[in-house]
Amino acid sequence: MNRLRLGVNIDHVATIRNARGGTHPDPLRAAKLVAAAGADGITAHLREDRRHISDADIDRLTREIDLPLNLEMAATEEMLAIALRHRPHAACIVPEKREERTTEGGIDAAGQFDKLAPVVRALGKNGTRVSLFIEANRQQIDAAKALGAPVVELHTGAYCDTEGAARAAHLEALREAVAYGASLGLEIHAGHGLGYDTVKPIAAIPQIRELNIGHFLIGEAIFVGLETAIRHMRNLMDEARL
Ligand code: PXP
Repeated sequence: MNRLRLGVNIDHVATIRNARGGTHPDPLRAAKLVAAAGADGITAHLREDRRHISDADIDRLTREIDLPLNLEMAATEEMLAIALRHRPHAACIVPEKREERTTEGGIDAAGQFDKLAPVVRALGKNGTRVSLFIEANRQQIDAAKALGAPVVELHTGAYCDTEGAARAAHLEALREAVAYGASLGLEIHAGHGLGYDTVKPIAAIPQIRELNIGHFLIGEAIFVGLETAIRHMRNLMDEARL
């Protein structure tokens, strides 16, 4: 069976650092702990307003961390230039609105086809594996495929934010979208909002190759430490795959 990779998003280590404007806690130190805890990748979102991760963080993460870096980025000229310069292992293209608290929905790959096409092409040509962060539906998956992105990351936020029948319906839509995307030859990732109580049904979907998890793990690390939180998440993912 395919091993399900875990990418840990370290943005919120930088959020805490930036609350005081100094250098502590250092996202690079967190990235080293993430590696020691057995995660498979580091994810970081360089936002337009630099509210957490900074340009210098991306520079240090690409130079000093052995794990693959997944750079989350908006499809803007500025971010494209940065990604082309740093050549991260992977780039996940996300929608970004200045005022939002977090990435609130998937990118409209179908509606923004012409804007996304040159970005996907340029990153791919530069050796970066491109994924598109999209909602779990066929229209978006078809658009991602047509754009030539090798990977899609399906948004699990609505599944995590609901309960009962609504959550079950979102899970079903995710299962269906995963199967459809995999049947088209896309590599499937998933993420957003996942925690201990929501990860297992997603991790159990066999065609998913990678989960990206951040906010919950960094929050849990306050109580149990980052390594313990990651190891527990890893165990839940492995149990779900058994
Ligand atoms: N995947 C993508 C594309 C994201 O934008 C985010 C949030 O930055 C995550 C995964 C991780 O979400 P969370 O921090 O809620 O675990």
